[in-house]
Amino acid sequence: MARITAGVATSHVPAVGAALDNGKSHEPYWAPLFAGYQWTKDWEETQQPDVVILVYNDHASAFDMNIIPTFAIGCAEEFGIADEGWGPRPVPIVKGHAELAWHIAQSCILDEFDMTILNRLEVDHGLTVPLSLMFGQPGQWPVRVVPIAVNVVTYPPPSGNRCWLLGEAIARAVESFPEDLNVQIWGTGGMSHQLQGPRAGLINKPWDMKFLDDLTRDAEGLRTKPHIEYLREAGSEGIELVMWLIMRGALGRGARELHRHYHVPGSNTAIGHIVLEPAA
Ligand code: DHB
Ligand code: FE
Repeated sequence: MARITAGVATSHVPAVGAALDNGKSHEPYWAPLFAGYQWTKDWEETQQPDVVILVYNDHASAFDMNIIPTFAIGCAEEFGIADEGWGPRPVPIVKGHAELAWHIAQSCILDEFDMTILNRLEVDHGLTVPLSLMFGQPGQWPVRVVPIAVNVVTYPPPSGNRCWLLGEAIARAVESFPEDLNVQIWGTGGMSHQLQGPRAGLINKPWDMKFLDDLTRDAEGLRTKPHIEYLREAGSEGIELVMWLIMRGALGRGARELHRHYHVPGSNTAIGHIVLEPAA
C-alpha cells in the first residue's frame, strides 16, 4: 500500500533558485539561508521517498487570467520547466507519477473535491525551488512528483479549512493506492511577505513563529484562520501559507516536528521551513 510518511513545508522564493543556479549559495547573504536546509537534505537521503505530492501555486506561468483553477492536479508523465522571463531554470525535467495522480484525481473527485486535471503543465519556481532546496543539484530528481496547483494569486483563494479537508482527501486517496510507495506531501509558499504596494517588504516574525508552532500545537486554530488575518499579519503574499494546510491536513490529527528553519533576509520573504511526521 502507498503511505504518506512525512510532510515538508518551505518558502519557494525564486531568487533562492537563481542563487543556486548561479553558484552563489556560499556567499554571505545566502549561506545561512541554505544552511537551514542541510538537515533536511541529509534526512531525505535516509527517507528515499518514491513520490512527492507537491502543493504549490503557479505564478501566472502556466495559467493566466483566462483560466484560474482553484485546485488542479498534474497527471502527465512529465512536466517541463517554465520560462519565467530569464529562460527555464537549468534543472532536470520533473517526472510525474501518472498512475498515482489519476488515482488521486479520481478518488478526490468522487470524494466531492472538484479537481482540475492537467495533462500538460510547465512548472515554475513554486515547485522547482523546493525541489532544489531538498535535493540540491542532481542530474535527475530522485523522486517522482505529483503537482497540486492551488490558486492563491487571484481572489478568492480557497479557505484554510477547505485546504485542510483536501489534504485529508488526498491522504485517503494515497492510502487506497495498491502499490507500495513511500509518499511525502510538501506545502510551499510563505511565510510572511508582501511584494507590492505601500506595505511591500512586510515581515512578521512573531506571527510566522506562532504559525510554525501551531502546525503541531493548535491545528484547529490554523484551520479556522480567516483570509483577512493572513493579509493583515503576513502580507498579501502570505496567503500562500494556506497551501501548508493541505500538507498538514494530509498528516492526520497529530503531527510531530522533526526540524524547522526560519531566516530573514531571503529576497522579500521570511524564509520558513518545517519537517513533520504523522503521529503514530
Ligand atoms: C518572492 C517570493 C515568492 O513567494 C514569490 O512567488 C516571488 C517572489 C520574493 O520574496 O522575492
Ligand atoms: Fe510565491
